[in-house]
Amino acid sequence: MTETTQTAPTLGVIGGSGFYQLLEEAEELTVDTPYGAPSDTIAVGTVAGRRVAFLPRHGRTHAHPPHRINYRANLWALRSLGVRQVLAPCAVGSLSRDHGPGAVVVPDQLVDRTSGRTQTFFEQGALHVPFADPYCPDGRGAVLKGAAAVGADAHDGGTMVVVEGPRFSTRAESQWYAAAGWSLVNMTGHPEAVLARELALCYTSVALVTDYDAGLDVGEGVQQDAVFEVFARNSARMREIVLETLRRLPEQRMCPCPGSLAGMDLPFELP
Ligand code: ADE
Repeated sequence: MTETTQTAPTLGVIGGSGFYQLLEEAEELTVDTPYGAPSDTIAVGTVAGRRVAFLPRHGRTHAHPPHRINYRANLWALRSLGVRQVLAPCAVGSLSRDHGPGAVVVPDQLVDRTSGRTQTFFEQGALHVPFADPYCPDGRGAVLKGAAAVGADAHDGGTMVVVEGPRFSTRAESQWYAAAGWSLVNMTGHPEAVLARELALCYTSVALVTDYDAGLDVGEGVQQDAVFEVFARNSARMREIVLETLRRLPEQRMCPCPGSLAGMDLPFELP
């Protein structure tokens, strides 16, 4: 099935598979795009009366590592279903003693240190979206309120540097990022954010700190098991935050995101 039998979803969540449990009476949709298949089928269901599409970023069996995710297909597929506001929960390493494992941070800036990933839909013509503020201001506000509603002390702001991976950073790289004033490190936050902007979607990252990155760690550096363990331990709380955020996302978008493509002559029709 490629179309929902009910009202189209306007809200989307791209995250770990723990989020399936958010959705009531979910339908599974197989969506194809001009860029190929998204990471998995998309589950569409209802949360607090709003229609929500959920896409597991890495696929439900974690088949797609961060550097091999088809980010374009994921964003295009969501938009083609009707999604206009995307929440993007993710795991991050901390570059600052201010945010320890288990902390929730709502970043307000991003630094792209990926390489070799396709990060645009615009393969021809002079099309340059504004990206000074990569995250939706209203989405960020909704996450902060949603987190407060479940008693989670989410930190407002921070710069997330997105590295290519799949390896973790060296100690020197990590210390360099921290010295630049960046607070979080992750492998999936880009090009997800800019591709959302190129489709005039709202995009909001919700970061769960799973580890101190190598520059702060006094032992062997970041270990994958520890990252997965902290993520699993916090996934119920992240679900609650996402749920409360979905309830608070505005029905009418008054943020700058829908206007990102104003005046641009796109070489294709938006889905
Ligand atoms: N995701 C979770 N922890 C990370 C780290 N330390 N570096 C990059 N990505 C991460």
